[in-house]
Formats: sequence, C-alpha cells, structure tokens
Amino acid sequence: MTRIGYILGSVAEGSINQKLAQVLVAQSPDRAELTYIDIHHLPLYNRGMDGDFPQTMNDYKKQVWSHDGLLLVTPEHNQSFPAVIKNALDILTRPWGSSAEGLKLGITGASPGRFGTINGQAQLRQFLPPLGVRVMGSPILAVHATKNTFNGDGTADETTTKRAEQYMEAFTQFVES
Ligand SMILES: Cc1cc2nc3c(=O)[nH]c(=O)nc-3n(C[C@H](O)[C@H](O)[C@H](O)COP(=O)(O)O)c2cc1C
Repeated sequence: MTRIGYILGSVAEGSINQKLAQVLVAQSPDRAELTYIDIHHLPLYNRGMDGDFPQTMNDYKKQVWSHDGLLLVTPEHNQSFPAVIKNALDILTRPWGSSAEGLKLGITGASPGRFGTINGQAQLRQFLPPLGVRVMGSPILAVHATKNTFNGDGTADETTTKRAEQYMEAFTQFVES
C-alpha cells in the first residue's frame, strides 16, 4: 500500500475543498491509502515554542512523516494559500534543526474563481522546492468550481472526476518513485 496523508485548507461548512478531497479519495487507485491529517487545531507557530515544542505539533509531524506522501487540498485566499496551510508547513521545518527535506507533496484545490486556486498553488511551488520538498510538477489540479461541479457525496461532474482520477494515479506514481 502507498500511504498518502492529506490536509485541508478549509473546514468551513459546505467546503468545496472537502468535497474535492472526497472525490480524490474515491478516485484514488486501489494501491493508495488516503488518510486525513487535521491541521486546524494546531497553534500558530512562533519561535518561542522551540524550547518546549507543543506535543500536538510533534504528533502532527509524526503523522505526516508516517506517510509516503502528503497531499494539499486547499482553497485560495486573496490570491494566495490560506494561513492555516502556511502554519502547517512551517511547523514541519521547526523546531530549529527540523527539515521538510524529502517530503513528497501534491498540491490541489478548488475555488469559484475563474483560475481555480492557480495563484495560491504557484506561490506554494515557489517556496517549497528550496526547502527540499519534492513537489509534483504535473498534472496540475486547480478546479474552477461551479454549483454543478461537486455533489457532496464523493462524486463530481464527469470532467472533474476524470481529472481527479488522473491526478491521483500520477501522484501515487510520484510518491512511489
Ligand atoms: C479571505 C478569503 C479570500 C478569498 N480569496 C479568493 C481568491 O483570491 N480567489 C478565489 O478564487 N477565491 C477566493 N475566495 C473565495 C473562496 O475560494 C471560496 O470561499 C471557497 O468556497 C473557499 O473554499 P472552501 O469552500 O473549501 O472553504 C476567498 C475567500 C475568503 C474567505
């Protein structure tokens, strides 16, 4: 089994990214096992925590590294990725001496905007590779969500379902490579 953890940039009621995550889980190849990793209870990191790093942050880091790869499913906030995602990624690089090097990462997201999270995704691609994070280059999954895209039961329209299936096959291969 290829173990993939996924984190959500939104847990808002009716979140379209939660719906996208459901579709990604449903469309994953049989050899991939997807597990939700919650980041929404994590405190906001500051360097004063380094001396006595919160247990909840250590537990979260252990959870991430117990998987073969990490998948982000996140909306876009003001042309960027949400702060909760940055906090979760920053925590992987702390306390001082910790590193996210070698983490295999996929980036996906949905938004009602015309470009469907592409700006937020581009910013993630800018700062993560210099940290040694291995970000999958293609395919890109940035979903322009309309009211007809997701059904909320793990299904989506035909195009989104196909794209999700292709994405998850490619990401599973990337994680296995
Ligand atoms: C603070 C904030 C900023 C937003 N900025 C953008 C944006 O730049 N581009 C975009 O497409 N949508 C933007 N939106 C709309 C979100 O994409 C929309 O609320 C979407 O449903 C969020 O995903 P979720 O349903 O998974 O929470 C923004 C929403 C919020 C709350």
